[in-house]
Amino acid sequence: MSEQGFRRFRRRSAPADAVPFAAGEGGSQPSAAPLAATAAAAPAQLPATLPEPWDRIRQVPFDAAAQAQARLPLVSRFRADPAAKSFDLLRTRLLHTLKARGWKRVAVTAPAAGCGTTFTAVNLALSLARVPDSRTVLMDMNFRRPGAAQALGMTAPGELAGFLSGSVPLEDQLLRPLPSLAVGLNSATDQDAAEILHGRSCAGVLEDMMLRLGAGTALFDLPPVLEHDDTAAFLPQVDGVVLIADGTSTTAAQLAACEKMLAGHTQMLGVVLNRARKTDGPLN
Ligand SMILES: Nc1ncnc2c1ncn2[C@@H]1O[C@H](COP(=O)(O)OP(=O)(O)O)[C@@H](O)[C@H]1O
Ligand SMILES: [Mg+2]
Repeated sequence: MSEQGFRRFRRRSAPADAVPFAAGEGGSQPSAAPLAATAAAAPAQLPATLPEPWDRIRQVPFDAAAQAQARLPLVSRFRADPAAKSFDLLRTRLLHTLKARGWKRVAVTAPAAGCGTTFTAVNLALSLARVPDSRTVLMDMNFRRPGAAQALGMTAPGELAGFLSGSVPLEDQLLRPLPSLAVGLNSATDQDAAEILHGRSCAGVLEDMMLRLGAGTALFDLPPVLEHDDTAAFLPQVDGVVLIADGTSTTAAQLAACEKMLAGHTQMLGVVLNRARKTDGPLN
């Protein structure tokens, strides 16, 4: 990541306490050696108390060696990287907004594939999980191209569709890479994604999950807004949306199309500019 890190792209038409989202700089991978060393010195905070289901969620190793398997650069591994600090800033502002409005569920999506939705969702979840006394859930709801498991270097225990249909219990589907982070990973693609997300059981299962885990924040990694109707189908389940723009490819027209599609259905929490260019300038 460059020293530029995240850079503010655009503040949405939201109250003054809304999330001033910014952008990650992409392309380059963090230089591993010195940064990896800092990860071990900064363990996640243990929450004071966790509701009982957390004890039954399988804990998976997520130490430096396990994180080295991750496909994406992870902020928990590269704590000293400017991008990690930017994710922490993003986290803090997001939490501020969610708390002010009593919201918990956030969809992360983008106009097109490859913008960095999974990159942002995973790193934001890791950053959220470092907040003392927090309880964070990350769900991979991109049935077209599930990416969270690979991004984290973890193996999904099964198909998320089974969990959302109510046939697989929470304890068998979720994994716990950090003490206060539960992740719902998906092992298989499913072309009937919109039907799953629209399904009668999906809303109830997620509500039950939020309640039983006492979740403070849930992030949902969703497919691109302009490519499938899955995200639209899922909007009733979230309080707001974070939109990821790729500084190297997303156009203003794409963002406008997303805004139009989302308007009236959910709140736009902010737009994150990923892979920001070194020099400032409007997206074309
Ligand atoms: N800011 C970034 N820095 C480094 N690599 C990035 C960044 N953003 C995305 N990538 C890489 O780009 C690829 C696509 O990102 P991903 O988050 O999977 O996109 P999406 O989920 O939107 O399809 C991944 O290989 C990811 O590692
Ligand atoms: Mg993805």
